Amino acid sequence: MIGALGSLDFSVTDPQRTSSAAGKQTWLFFRQWLKNPLRIAALSPSGQQLTGLMMSELPQRASRVVELGAGTGVFTRALLDAGIQPDKLLVVELNEELHNYLHEHFPLVRVVNGNATELRDIATHEGFLTTGLADAVVSGLGLLSMPRALQKSIVEAAFSVLKPDGCLIQFTYGPKSPLPPDLLSELGLSVRRGGFAWRNVPPASVFVFTRVRSEQLRAVRA
Ligand SMILES: C[S@@+](CC[C@H](N)C(=O)[O-])C[C@H]1O[C@@H](n2cnc3c(N)ncnc32)[C@H](O)[C@@H]1O
Repeated sequence: MIGALGSLDFSVTDPQRTSSAAGKQTWLFFRQWLKNPLRIAALSPSGQQLTGLMMSELPQRASRVVELGAGTGVFTRALLDAGIQPDKLLVVELNEELHNYLHEHFPLVRVVNGNATELRDIATHEGFLTTGLADAVVSGLGLLSMPRALQKSIVEAAFSVLKPDGCLIQFTYGPKSPLPPDLLSELGLSVRRGGFAWRNVPPASVFVFTRVRSEQLRAVRA
């Protein structure tokens, strides 16, 4: 884990982080929420404390990362700040307006307007997998409010692009894992609870999912 990043201050250091830019992001996000509350699953973008906790869970030498459900790009910006090169980052966002916003603000990053369930095909099509699998998938998706079948499909897609020891980093509102224990055991995954962002609105917990040892070995042999 990149432990020091947990305390990083993601404060205003460039024009994209001015208060007027933040206001525009919040308003854009809120408009999308009004159109589709279940899919957007949050009233406003994640705050600095949650962003820092998500970044602190990146594996030590992570270089290739996928981001799912980027919204207005708070995690995208933090991933770049954490040293992930723009060409080693693949971002998938389902909402067209948010995708267009991300595409405009992160011109060097591959930002795809698509569904996380199609991640394997998207990554292949984008040539993301030609130089290797990902170290981490950082997810801002509202997994908790999704039906089990959709959760399963998204998590399977995430692990299909991850290295055997790669991890899925996911936040959720409240203290409980967004994935039920029976789904974890069906998929051969284990979960560890990361930090709790009590200053976030609403407060959120970070969870890190990895393959259990036997599944890691199976993935190495595959
Ligand atoms: C809770 S918001 C998180 C946004 C941002 N990561 C943040 O933390 O501020 C969830 C985002 O996931 C996107 N989303 C929802 N379902 C998706 C899917 N199946 N595939 C890709 N993105 C999806 C929504 O459009 C929204 O931007």
